[in-house]
Amino acid sequence: MQTVTLNNGARMPLLGFGVYQIPAEDTERAVSEALAAGYRLLDTAAAYANEEAAGRAIKSSGIPREELFVTTKLWVQDAPAEDNTRRAFETSLAKLGLDYLDLYLMHQPFGDVYGQWRAMEALNREGAAKAIGVANFYPDRLIDLILNNEITPAVNQIETHPFFQRAGYQDLMREHGVQIQSWGGFAEGRNDLFTNPLLAEIGKECG
Ligand SMILES: NC(=O)c1ccc[n+]([C@@H]2O[C@H](COP(=O)([O-])OP(=O)(O)OC[C@H]3O[C@@H](n4cnc5c(N)ncnc54)[C@H](OP(=O)(O)O)[C@@H]3O)[C@@H](O)[C@H]2O)c1
Repeated sequence: MQTVTLNNGARMPLLGFGVYQIPAEDTERAVSEALAAGYRLLDTAAAYANEEAAGRAIKSSGIPREELFVTTKLWVQDAPAEDNTRRAFETSLAKLGLDYLDLYLMHQPFGDVYGQWRAMEALNREGAAKAIGVANFYPDRLIDLILNNEITPAVNQIETHPFFQRAGYQDLMREHGVQIQSWGGFAEGRNDLFTNPLLAEIGKECG
């Protein structure tokens, strides 16, 4: 599996398996099959309500922890955001059955973003979250967060696919050392992605 090096030196697999839209009762089997197929990056979230099932699949896989790259996400926290963020992180970790996360993302730029980020910075310094990042941040919110805090997000996970490439935003993130991570990479099954004539032609040319 190819990897990309994040701004804190951590290496993240280029391809991952996300468990949004997978019902909790199917998640354990789906994650087990993904790990057997070679996936090593798993992407879940507190809001997906399937962290426990993903955790069971991780445990039963027998794959050494250091070979996995596990991401989960913080849902919007009420004040005091710093205390609640730490509690939310500990709950996610317990549900996953892990003692550290490879990447902890703020799911949305809502609520007391600064308070949540300060708590995430502390978790990062303690080594409990090896990397921290954000998701669904538009350029103004991302630049504001970078300029007014100590740690620059390692990742911004945003919707991107062939029909929504956000090329200018990709350049801006590159300039600031924030790694883009796409969600909805298959356009969530829309726009006939798998039969689009132009994409089929490009695929044929590129093998
Ligand atoms: N940070 C965020 O806010 C956020 C938001 C959304 C997603 N994510 C992350 O990104 C991951 C991927 O996003 P996603 O699941 O929304 O979208 P996606 O990967 O673009 O698309 C999944 C959809 O594509 C369809 N599909 C997949 N392969 C197909 C194939 N070979 N032929 C036809 N249809 C196919 C599936 O349909 P069927 O179910 O019918 O197979 C499924 O509904 C998520 O699991 C989650 O981890 C993050």
